[in-house]
Amino acid sequence: MCGIVAYTGNQPAKEILIEGLKRLEYRGYDSSGIFIQNSPPYLARAVGKVAELERRVWNSAPDGVAGIAHTRWATHGKPTEANAHPHTDCGDKLFLVHNGIIENYLVLKKRLLEAGHRFKSETDTEVLVHLIEAGYQGDLPAAVQKALLQVQGTFGIAVMHCDHPGSIVVARRGSPIVLGIGESASLAASDVSALAQHTDQVVYLEDNEIACLEPGNFSITTLDNRSVNRGTTNLEYDVESMDRGSFPHYMLKEIFEQPEAVENALRGRLNHAEAVAKLGGLESVQERLLQARHLIIVSCGTSFYAGLFGRYVFETLTDLTVETELASEFRYRKLNLRQGTVVLAISQSGETADTLAALREAKRKGALVLGLVNVVGSTIARETHAGVYSHAGIEVGVASTKSFLSQITILTLMALLIGRSRDLSYEEGHEIILALERVPEQIREILKQAEHIRQLAVKYCHAEHFLFIGRKYQYPIALEGALKLKEIAYIHSEGYAAGEMKHGPIALIDPKFPTLALALEDGSYERIVSNIQEIHAREGHILAITTEGNTTLGDLADDLIYIPRTHEAVAPLLSVVPLQLFAYYCGVLLGRDVDKPRNLAKSVTVE
Ligand code: AGP
Ligand code: GLU
Repeated sequence: MCGIVAYTGNQPAKEILIEGLKRLEYRGYDSSGIFIQNSPPYLARAVGKVAELERRVWNSAPDGVAGIAHTRWATHGKPTEANAHPHTDCGDKLFLVHNGIIENYLVLKKRLLEAGHRFKSETDTEVLVHLIEAGYQGDLPAAVQKALLQVQGTFGIAVMHCDHPGSIVVARRGSPIVLGIGESASLAASDVSALAQHTDQVVYLEDNEIACLEPGNFSITTLDNRSVNRGTTNLEYDVESMDRGSFPHYMLKEIFEQPEAVENALRGRLNHAEAVAKLGGLESVQERLLQARHLIIVSCGTSFYAGLFGRYVFETLTDLTVETELASEFRYRKLNLRQGTVVLAISQSGETADTLAALREAKRKGALVLGLVNVVGSTIARETHAGVYSHAGIEVGVASTKSFLSQITILTLMALLIGRSRDLSYEEGHEIILALERVPEQIREILKQAEHIRQLAVKYCHAEHFLFIGRKYQYPIALEGALKLKEIAYIHSEGYAAGEMKHGPIALIDPKFPTLALALEDGSYERIVSNIQEIHAREGHILAITTEGNTTLGDLADDLIYIPRTHEAVAPLLSVVPLQLFAYYCGVLLGRDVDKPRNLAKSVTVE
């Protein structure tokens, strides 16, 4: 979901800004633009990939040492050059880039037009630059502050003015902005991936804060004029892991990184002696957490399916009553956040606007709000009362793969922690721990079947529709597998609770409508076999994921993928892997941009 990079220092800004935009490409965008402070000022914008902007800029841009750049994910106005950022004021003295949505832009635009301002784009963003122009009397931060106080909606902005060489004003409400402060340079960006090459000293801006950047220093105030004293924090960021290495796509690299992702999620968190999990991030609220009676899990997309898995594992290992809710629907629910309610927000990016809105609503109603987040220092991580980091590492591919695996690993640890303070026995807890510790090696075994799964993708990738079915713990995995095939291969796929087949979906079955069935030898195996028989009887093709050593599905399923045997609650950590690979290979075979699927963004910071 779009991105901002800003630089002021003593190096040519062009390379730093373009490289920064490339680091943010995974967030999703449709056009981009750059401003280099120079005389005359330099502005270039392009539709399509950042590479197109780079091609235009490389030989024409001046060596100015300050500038701002932007990747746009259009919300108001088509993805055209005229609508791309940066936007300028009437006098072409102000240059602004923006992430977010100005909800009252029509009212503001009408007022500005009546005051004689001339607009050049269809965007909501452009009202910001004219508002600043209207209030500018030589003090840029003051003019920015005055403008933002009139705005409803979300923003992450960077602004420069020709009369203030080397100065950059940034501000945020709802769209992330993080500062990077070096010896002789200052930067700002939508996330740390665009800063890490230049500094390890970062400052996270909070909502309704404005920062002024000069080379090597910064100051922060709030929109209501209070000074903010916030030092820099050390950034632990491994830039190398941003690189693809020998893999053709980030998505495949991240699927193959899953054994390490699970190892990182487990590291230092298993206590064998007491058969309990240790989650340092929850210690500050552990007493309140262990008294919890009711858990509500809010999240979106793949993270919602992780939450759905969480409902099963919490209900199995603890006596909590558990609800899962789509974060975007949470605000419409009259949920009884009664005493003893914990709300858990799950998010890879930690910036998903729907999830952020849900956790703020839960906090407002007095719930203990926890986070399960991958990006350190992200907004959700900072706004929850406490939480656990996934430690999945940077996930560049838009599709959530290793972060999903980390999420369901940590949910199991959280359930173990609470369960062992209730009536979960040592033996039951230790069985879970032993099963979790075997997962990394078991995933490595599954990954050895990549070619077999690719062959199945060759066979099935031209299907126009696909059904994914599973029961109990495998039901969220069926939903996740269907989402992966949708978002990566653009194949219409539906995930269904297998028990629902006879209530409608079975009407769809015919030889052209294949089904992927999660048929592990667990407590619901006989029932899923019945579903498979019903599909087989109607000449539907079946690709089944089943347990190693299974001998009964050979006559019913057209194709089989075997995965190692493990505890029913841990099996989803294994069964999701073939589905990720299947979606990946279908996408590649169909020529999709598997790392940056059309219309999708890695971080959905608009509601
Ligand atoms: C999953 O592959 C998608 N990228 C998307 O559904 C994602 O899970 C969703 O947007 C939630 O993102 P978050 O985990 O960063 O909050
Ligand atoms: N709403 C603005 C636009 O449509 C900004 C979109 C973005 O966040 O990239 O231009």
